[in-house]
Amino acid sequence: MAASNLLVIGVVGAGAMGRGIVQLFAQAGHAVRCHDAQAGAAAQGVAAVSAQLERLVEKGRLSRADFDAMGARLHACQRLQDLAGCDVVVEAIVEDLTVKREVFRALEAVVRPDAILASNTSSLTIADIAAACERPGRVAGLHFFNPVPLMKVAEVIAAVRTEPEVVDRLRALTEGAGHRAVVVADQPGFLINHAGRGLYTEGLRIVEERVADPADVDDVLRDAMGFRMGPFELLDLTGLDVSGRVMTSIYEQFHQEPRFRPSSLVPPRVAAGLFGRKSGQGWYRYEGGGKLAPPARPAPPLPAGLTLWIDPAASGAEGLRELARAAGVVVTGQADAADLAIVQPWGQDATHAALAAGVDPARCVALDPLPPLALRRTLMLTAATAPAVRDAAQALLAADGTPVTVINDSPGFIAQRVMATIVNIAANIAQRGIASVADLEDAVPLGLGYPSGPLGWGDQLGADRILAILQGQLAATADPRYRPSPWLTRRVAMGVPLVTPEAAR
Ligand SMILES: NC(=O)c1ccc[n+]([C@@H]2O[C@H](COP(=O)([O-])OP(=O)(O)OC[C@H]3O[C@@H](n4cnc5c(N)ncnc54)[C@H](O)[C@@H]3O)[C@@H](O)[C@H]2O)c1
Repeated sequence: MAASNLLVIGVVGAGAMGRGIVQLFAQAGHAVRCHDAQAGAAAQGVAAVSAQLERLVEKGRLSRADFDAMGARLHACQRLQDLAGCDVVVEAIVEDLTVKREVFRALEAVVRPDAILASNTSSLTIADIAAACERPGRVAGLHFFNPVPLMKVAEVIAAVRTEPEVVDRLRALTEGAGHRAVVVADQPGFLINHAGRGLYTEGLRIVEERVADPADVDDVLRDAMGFRMGPFELLDLTGLDVSGRVMTSIYEQFHQEPRFRPSSLVPPRVAAGLFGRKSGQGWYRYEGGGKLAPPARPAPPLPAGLTLWIDPAASGAEGLRELARAAGVVVTGQADAADLAIVQPWGQDATHAALAAGVDPARCVALDPLPPLALRRTLMLTAATAPAVRDAAQALLAADGTPVTVINDSPGFIAQRVMATIVNIAANIAQRGIASVADLEDAVPLGLGYPSGPLGWGDQLGADRILAILQGQLAATADPRYRPSPWLTRRVAMGVPLVTPEAAR
């Protein structure tokens, strides 16, 4: 490796990812050589990167002098042999193990013995690629996200034989380019795609069980929990054909771990071509590039003289009482005398919560206590809620103009189920040491766009509540996908946070 911090970086593959990686390292001041097997592709890639940089000059974000210097250090190479002097080579070619192995073998014959060889693979095992090499200790993963310059995180994947020094050098290279580098074990989905499983699989399961429609799931998670997009909007963006394959691949690579079980709703939709935005229809329809959301169910009128009973154990009881007062609804302390009863369970369905509170399920609904009352309210029906009771509850909860989502009975509402699944998967990532807690907490907001790291989010919502939701789901379904991670149960038992100050460092 050259003594100075400025290196010679090789990039093999000048497609979407290769171009982004070339741009990132060129902007960081390194000399970058780009090679592609397809004639002319490397030159096209380098030209596309120059055009991107030119745009930054036009916007005043890059000086003309820096642009010229970057251009002078940027080269398209027709032959792989031209990568001979590279300190690090990052491979971003087609996702095919046989082809990647051939390229790594060929690279070994070209580069210096101390040069690092890194793969940008999303789904292959790094050890499988390294096994083709004479010196597997210098092979690692360096997994970027699309678009590379804007997605400011990269996973440095340490395969079982990767030398620690190689990991350190890749981390320094990535952080020197302004991206957060997280060190990850060579496990399926690495860190970020692994941590992202919960949103999709639990969202699909809620729809599969006919608890709610895709738009309801998206509305609640986006509006009430702060996700940039709900799981169905995301699936439509990435394409169900692509995401469906990833879901199945990670499930199979983890030897059919129930937490990652894909949904039987997916294959028929893929077969029918309902991929999402790119095919004009997925979970939503698209016209002129815009999503056509199904119309929201309008709030019915509030019946006159309604009497309301609120479960005294409800955590949002005070807010509900205020809402009732403002809407002119009489609150009674006697469940038998009320037209409408509201319960607020954690991890329990509305029917069982009504029975546990001693109220008639026909006159009862449940309100999700998890999201703040002010953003979007989720109203869950029991198996017997009368239509007039449902309408009265929706009218009351919408009386101050807050949107209301009405769903069918389920242990844990939409937000509770999805949040508990995300935190549980993150706890298991920590249990397995796939990444440090600090790296996990930083990588998830940067890579998935979530408003918070998953374990810190669990602390905010209450780790004991997350555990109660999982236990409720497990008790109601006997599905091992909901079994709580021992990493979570131990911390709840001790009353210590999921992210301790030492772990956050
Ligand atoms: N696209 C993404 O969002 C994304 C995100 C993270 C990781 N990845 C991974 O990055 C890699 C590249 O993905 P992409 O989307 O840029 O693909 P792409 O299809 O856009 O580009 C691949 C390029 O590699 C070239 N190529 C194929 N075989 C080659 C060989 N033997 N030698 C040299 N060049 C060769 C092709 O000509 C093409 O230009 C894959 O491993 C993919 O899994 C992709």
